[in-house]
Amino acid sequence: ARGVTRSPSGELEVAGIGVTRLAAEAGTPAYVFDEADLRARARAFADAFAGWQVYYAGKSFLCTAVARWVAEEGLSLDVCTGGELAVALRAGVDPARIGFHGNNKSVAELAAALDAGVGRIVVDSTIELERLSALAAERGVRAPVLIRVTVGVEAHTHEYIATAHEDQKFGFSLVTGEAMAAVESCLAAPGIDLRGIHSHIGSQIFETSGFEIAVRRTVGMLADIASRTGRELPELDLGGGFGIAYTTLDDPAPPQQLADELAALVRAECAARGIGVPELSIEPGRAISGPAAFMLYEVGTVKPVTLSGGGVRTYLSVDGGMSDNIRTALYAAEYSATLANRASDAPPVLCRVVGKHCESGDIVVRDEFLPGDIVPGDLIAVPGAGAYARSMASNYNHVPRPPVIAAADGEWRTLVRRETVDDLLALDVG
Ligand code: LLP
Repeated sequence: ARGVTRSPSGELEVAGIGVTRLAAEAGTPAYVFDEADLRARARAFADAFAGWQVYYAGKSFLCTAVARWVAEEGLSLDVCTGGELAVALRAGVDPARIGFHGNNKSVAELAAALDAGVGRIVVDSTIELERLSALAAERGVRAPVLIRVTVGVEAHTHEYIATAHEDQKFGFSLVTGEAMAAVESCLAAPGIDLRGIHSHIGSQIFETSGFEIAVRRTVGMLADIASRTGRELPELDLGGGFGIAYTTLDDPAPPQQLADELAALVRAECAARGIGVPELSIEPGRAISGPAAFMLYEVGTVKPVTLSGGGVRTYLSVDGGMSDNIRTALYAAEYSATLANRASDAPPVLCRVVGKHCESGDIVVRDEFLPGDIVPGDLIAVPGAGAYARSMASNYNHVPRPPVIAAADGEWRTLVRRETVDDLLALDVG
């Protein structure tokens, strides 16, 4: 995050507040957001994609404060469950600027979305289409719908977060004709107002080639729809998935470059296919929330382990782990770590930052060289913890989930309070 600096004594600061103070006042572990940084990233997308609708993907991280921040910076909001929808509505987000995703929205969730008047619902199956049409007809309204299509590209990312290849659960295939059949069902359904099509090829993507194929195929689909039905659908959503740097080796394209490339490509394809340029939208999540927060942990134990091949690795156990960030264990995601409360001149040693959970896969940062004098009580910061960390947190081993705090202008406040063991016990009613 941009507001993160080092004080003269080597202590990490965010928005002018030292991590030692944050740890003393908020406790550890904690997700620490830099409010100005998150707002700036949201604003950068809104500015770069001027004329587009930019939906912040709430699944990456959502609470009422963040929903308000992104709305204030000019973004719309993508939700994918009734729970996320409830947060958006509680935050006062204009329902017309909410998009609703998901491959198995319940009848209750669809009804809630219609009753709230969300701006669009992205439909993922024929059964959902029928349900939604019936619910809308009951209410005497027409549901604004995008059809989610899969364009058949192999996005270069982890298998669990790639979404446009065959044989996965999302969308209607463009390649097999299922997507065109879904469009025809929409046009025939009384409760459906078909607005356009939607493609999301995957997440943590750096190469634009996947998006280029998606643009070609989705614009091709819009042209096919126009020639078959005589209707030019007005909207095209290209989804999210823009990668961020978790380690210094990554190099994501700035939003402006992405915007210029995608817009030029859409214009060229529409011209080639003889249709008008639709209203465009995207759904970045990680690129806005990810870099805007770091995780603050306290070191509890330091254990040198002699490796059979020679050498030593130092295991630094921190007071959280896979319950507050599952990404390393789940996707072999790479993070970095830094000693946060002080400077050190000690020679670096090979470390692994691990959590407090009862399994050896409970790794926060697999490989990191850190100063050799780290002791219990030192603070460790892990950048890039704003996306898919708190939002995927669990209570594994009955560990209460950490708070989300935000720093701005030399002050900090709690956005989501720390869970307590009593919170967990309150659920146990047997
Ligand atoms: N739009 C749709 C339809 C999506 O499914 C997603 C992410 C996004 C937008 C936002 O993608 P982003 O810009 O944040 O990459 N838990 C995984 C990521 C799962 C992404 C799911 N969908 C992770 O931690 O990497």
